[in-house]
Amino acid sequence: MRLTMVGTGYVGLVTGVCFSNTGVDVICLDVDPKKIEKLRRGEVPIYEPGLDDLMERNIKAGRLHFTLDKAEAYRDADMIFICVGTPSDERGHTDLKYVNGAADDVADVLKALGPNQKPKTIVMKSTVPVGTTLAMRDRIRARAGADIPFKVADNPEFLKEGDAINDFNKPDRVVVGVEDESSGEAFRQLYDPFVRNGHPIFIMDIPSAEMVKYASNNFLATKISFINEMANLCEAYGADINRVREGMCSDKRIGGAFLYPGLGYGGSCFPKDTLACMMMGDKSGIEARLSKAVHEVNQKQRERFFDKIVAHFGGKKGVGGGATGLQGRKLAFWGIAFKPRTDDIREAPALTLIRKAAGYGATCVGYDPVANANARAELGPAAEIADDMYAALQGADALVISTDWDEFKNPDFDRMAKVMAGKVIFDGRNLYRTQAIRGTGFTYYSVGRKTIVPL
Ligand SMILES: NC(=O)c1ccc[n+]([C@@H]2O[C@H](COP(=O)([O-])OP(=O)(O)OC[C@H]3O[C@@H](n4cnc5c(N)ncnc54)[C@H](O)[C@@H]3O)[C@@H](O)[C@H]2O)c1
Repeated sequence: MRLTMVGTGYVGLVTGVCFSNTGVDVICLDVDPKKIEKLRRGEVPIYEPGLDDLMERNIKAGRLHFTLDKAEAYRDADMIFICVGTPSDERGHTDLKYVNGAADDVADVLKALGPNQKPKTIVMKSTVPVGTTLAMRDRIRARAGADIPFKVADNPEFLKEGDAINDFNKPDRVVVGVEDESSGEAFRQLYDPFVRNGHPIFIMDIPSAEMVKYASNNFLATKISFINEMANLCEAYGADINRVREGMCSDKRIGGAFLYPGLGYGGSCFPKDTLACMMMGDKSGIEARLSKAVHEVNQKQRERFFDKIVAHFGGKKGVGGGATGLQGRKLAFWGIAFKPRTDDIREAPALTLIRKAAGYGATCVGYDPVANANARAELGPAAEIADDMYAALQGADALVISTDWDEFKNPDFDRMAKVMAGKVIFDGRNLYRTQAIRGTGFTYYSVGRKTIVPL
């Protein structure tokens, strides 16, 4: 079996590497020459733990190849996995330009090969609104010609950045949407090495498979917005969200996963997938009210946290309120990636906070264990980027913690106090026990818990 991955981003590269690791021949295509050059040199263009070793091993074994050449990538493939980005456009709709671009590329190669070619299956791995995979089939058919043999399928991906190899190799489930039941067999064979632990492969119709991905991500986003709403109520009524969380999550029906209060979700998936559900709702007349609320709570969560910073420095309270107190202040930010163990900064809460603070005249210095290069490129003059977590604190009036990296969890508070100009921490991830903060001399703001003020 020969597979083609279209796109060598977080999903395409991990998927290609993991499939090749089971002995399958994989070719990965991208339109970005820099990425392909790096990959050919054996360098991984993203940060993903464990990916470099696995990639190197499979390149050496001759099973994993990278190309910019579309004809080479598509010509001999049995299955073509579309793994391109599906970001939101400025109205919140899913922008399908990369999917359509890839579909047209495939159609052109299939057309050139003619009607007697070996039939291929074109698999949508990107997260797409329900109906997109079948629309892609019609688009390819119209461009390549009705006599060109091929099938389509939808195979949504559930890996999470930072633990992507493990998630791909041991998925909780594999979901495949097919045009007819007989197509399911090839997927059972392909995924068999990944479900030896007994986890299921669900073969279903294509619209249902597309919807599984949105339903899953929207549910997880809902959990995050829910616990943040509870945290805000805790703040208003003097309760402690950590105690509430423990009490609530020990209920077996509830459980603790994805119920951590903080700055809300970011990244390249939850924000856009929640918006996509809202748009699918609006388009169909079935208003997705819960998705709208989840999105709104998430946006507000960053604003609320920023308001705490403003209020501390003497600005007016309230969303969008005056932030004059930030003029000339220096703020250090620990963590820029949208979550730990990744260099992905798409939709990261830190970006919102840094841009707002810089806009109000604060000097911002950021540090992230692996996302510094992406942060530099994205933020430009809005922030200096430090090479060390303590260097970022030099002369800072306050520290803002925006990502829960392990290395921030047990810092040297004495050292911090020595280098900082002000002893204030705004912890957007509730990294510290309030008892541990008492006695350090820091003023400590967190989420859903009382503020600790030194006596
Ligand atoms: N990132 C995640 O954690 C994750 C998890 C599950 C699902 N997904 C979904 O998977 C899809 C891909 O996400 P990602 O984060 O890997 O995207 P990404 O932006 O990291 O990578 C996309 C890649 O596709 C390439 N590309 C664009 N057009 C192309 C074309 N015509 N031919 C070849 N390559 C092309 C781009 O150059 C880029 O390298 C999205 O739909 C996303 O929602 C992402």
